[in-house]
Amino acid sequence: MSLISSPVDKTIFNNRIFFIKRDDLLHESFSGNKARKFYSFLKNDFNDCKKLISFGSAQANSLYSFSALAKLKGWQFDFYVAHISDFIKQNPKGNYRAALENGANVIEVGEFLEGETLEDYLNNNIIAKEQSYLFVPEGGRCQYAKMGIDLLAQEITYWAADNKITEFKVALPAGTGTTALFLQQAFIELNTNIEILTCACVGGDSYLKKQFFELCTDESRHPTIMKSRKKYHFGKLYRAFYDIWQALNIQTEIVFELLYDPLGWLTLTDYIESKNIPADYPILYIHQGGLLGNETMLPRYQRKYGKYDSKIG
Ligand SMILES: Cc1ncc(COP(=O)(O)O)c(C=O)c1O
Repeated sequence: MSLISSPVDKTIFNNRIFFIKRDDLLHESFSGNKARKFYSFLKNDFNDCKKLISFGSAQANSLYSFSALAKLKGWQFDFYVAHISDFIKQNPKGNYRAALENGANVIEVGEFLEGETLEDYLNNNIIAKEQSYLFVPEGGRCQYAKMGIDLLAQEITYWAADNKITEFKVALPAGTGTTALFLQQAFIELNTNIEILTCACVGGDSYLKKQFFELCTDESRHPTIMKSRKKYHFGKLYRAFYDIWQALNIQTEIVFELLYDPLGWLTLTDYIESKNIPADYPILYIHQGGLLGNETMLPRYQRKYGKYDSKIG
């Protein structure tokens, strides 16, 4: 299983060169940042483990990759969610469908939460009763993620050296912020001055900052958060998102995903403009996969805003 060494494409978007790190091509089940965040689970034996436990949304990209990991390892997999809509239950699609096919137990506990978070509920009621399990927080936000992301940082520095690129920035959208944070740390540990630019797709800038602090108390090692021109709610549909996704699709001939990438590209283009970053200054955008989620997101967009003539995807 090749989980490292994704290619870098050179593309033009809105009259500017961008390099795209194609982590989406890494592996069908562990595409994008899951290949990086789950690398240590895949490479190391967890001989005592019989069950993988995590939580999040029923449409999360991580749900599918966790299910693939559990299947590969022969573990049972319990994934806790607050709520699954009746529509999704009756018409399983995307990550949820693929995870069920892999044998995931998706367990709905919303009615028991009584004001506490899903994570607190699991800690207080479920984990203590389990044995021989591996608990991974939502979206793989834990120190285990570091090993694979260190390798990503190394690959990027090799690519830059091979292409004689001495100064550049790396951009990627954040959810939990794990990938962006560990990547920034890895670049610092490699003695480079590569700056990570990211944006808060879930919960806003202060939530993301808090997530960074939970993984690393030293703020000087945190990525730069690019400002969003307005507040967008995670998972909601926005015309601006669909427009930029389509423009990317047509101009770069690369299919991006529809939850994180539109905000990633919107904030990045605004940032480049606001900082007057010259057109020839190299920027590497990391494509973090998640395309299975488009199975549900694209029909929603098409129902709301209509279809368009796609070159691909
Ligand atoms: C496609 C995609 N992009 C970005 C992210 C955000 O990653 P992180 O939670 O490490 O910030 C995720 C979530 O894992 C994802 O699936």
